[in-house]
Amino acid sequence: MRTFNPFGINYPLSIINYPLVSMAKITIQKMSPKDISSVVELDRLCFGGLWNAQGYQRELESPNSDLLILLISQNTEDRKEKVVFQSSNCESQLTYNQSIIGVCCLWAILEEAHITILGIHPQYQRLGFGQLLLYTLMRSAWERGLERATLEVAASNISALSLYYKFGFQDVGRRRGYYQKTGEDALILWHSHLHQQEFEQTLSEWHRQVVGRINDYEVSWEGLKVENQHSYS
Ligand SMILES: CC(C)(COP(=O)(O)OP(=O)(O)OC[C@H]1O[C@@H](n2cnc3c(N)ncnc32)[C@H](O)[C@@H]1OP(=O)(O)O)[C@@H](O)C(=O)NCCC(=O)NCCS
Repeated sequence: MRTFNPFGINYPLSIINYPLVSMAKITIQKMSPKDISSVVELDRLCFGGLWNAQGYQRELESPNSDLLILLISQNTEDRKEKVVFQSSNCESQLTYNQSIIGVCCLWAILEEAHITILGIHPQYQRLGFGQLLLYTLMRSAWERGLERATLEVAASNISALSLYYKFGFQDVGRRRGYYQKTGEDALILWHSHLHQQEFEQTLSEWHRQVVGRINDYEVSWEGLKVENQHSYS
């Protein structure tokens, strides 16, 4: 967790070393109807407009879908006004700006998890947030008792392919001309054996990796069972 000196005052050393506040918090939670307009905008930035508001509304209403968002909460610029010291032992409170910077979804169909979207705001890519969401989806699939995860991804989408390969997905086929706008092929990727006992161990290893990667941030899973995984880190 990062620390900072909110007023730029020369505190005695013992106080400067005190972890006053964290710089940013990451929260993963289920999307709700109030998030739709922000997520549609994020979708436009990540995918060029894959789903519209009705598309997200449909997923929100489906019991077979897990539609999750990733929020970042950063302290406001004007620290002098926003930081409130509660007592002389330097506990403090900040006003946070919260933005949705990631979205992902899976459909549960029979014993399969279909990963339908996974996107991180372009300004926040390559910081470990994509793998944090993928881990959370895979854990959701496991909690639902699903056996396999699958998805389609554009053959040229190196960043997404690298992410999925890193987490053990394998190519099993190709859909030629799958993307109507570009005519590009899609690769079909699978990850099997989610229902086998060893997969729980895999999940805890992934948890260690993904949380370790973003250890400058405080991470929480609101309302998702994955919160209990904190004991693994
Ligand atoms: C694909 C996407 C979700 C990855 O999210 P991200 O937050 O940037 O990825 P992370 O920082 O978590 O990276 C995790 C791993 O993914 C791979 N990866 C991510 N971006 C990469 C890039 N530009 N080049 C190569 N590998 C990349 C790496 O294996 C990386 O692990 P490493 O950092 O240890 O090398 C993001 O690039 C995105 O939103 N793209 C646009 C939407 C999209 O194409 N979604 C996928 C559709 S199925």
